Amino acid sequence: MPGPDLRTFASLEELSRAAAARFAEFCQERLARESIFTAALSGGSTPKRLYEILGGPEFSGSIPWPRVHLFQADERCVPPDHAESNYRMIRETLLDRVRIPQSNVHRVQAELANPEESAEFYAQELNRMFRPKPGGIPNLDLVFLGMGPDGHTASLFPGSAALAERVKWVSANFVEKLHANRVTLTYPLLNAAREVIFLVAGHEKAETLRQVLEGPHEPERLPSQGIRPADGRLSWYVDAAAAGRLKNATGSAG
Ligand code: 6PG
Repeated sequence: MPGPDLRTFASLEELSRAAAARFAEFCQERLARESIFTAALSGGSTPKRLYEILGGPEFSGSIPWPRVHLFQADERCVPPDHAESNYRMIRETLLDRVRIPQSNVHRVQAELANPEESAEFYAQELNRMFRPKPGGIPNLDLVFLGMGPDGHTASLFPGSAALAERVKWVSANFVEKLHANRVTLTYPLLNAAREVIFLVAGHEKAETLRQVLEGPHEPERLPSQGIRPADGRLSWYVDAAAAGRLKNATGSAG
């Protein structure tokens, strides 16, 4: 199996610009054939600049937002206006700045009293939008993922229960080390995407990135390794600091 597509950029700014350009390019490509473009966005700090760029003047003419539907890769179990809410970050950096209809924004209702219920509601929302055949699964066009220094991605944390999910599309996941509940898209759903792009920046991710890309396959310990789109494309957009320990990071795309 060929390795993933690895792109190294000099800075987070360049990485973010390249990711925004890929979003716009893939969006146009899909919309030439399909009526809508679907993308799932992660939280955390790395994608903030990407979302700002997507919401800025450079892309205002090239992304037809009324035909774009946005989903969340994961959410922290807090109200949507909470400082830790991924939705809030996505709203402030992107949604408030583009002409996307509210009905195209598919938010995890993570403020519900029961995280299992939040996960179930979100799965129903995905089903309503994608209407897959019985036994089928939604195929998101594009998913942006981050990676934590412990190797987690979305809210699939090392050793957590959601890693074992093979059927459900969305899972509630209690994260012991954070003493917090999360709601996350699962491996089956993420690996059904047409394209997945990891965004990884900073020295503190360098050793984990080396292990994830060049070490043995241990997805229980390094959940990012479990992302292997079955029929889709997988790319890693990393900055020079995060790529610092990779043997195979040759050249720079940025
Ligand atoms: C979240 C995420 C999470 C994130 C990684 C990386 O809710 O925090 O969606 O999976 O992508 O933790 O986060 P940073 O970009 O902040 O390093």
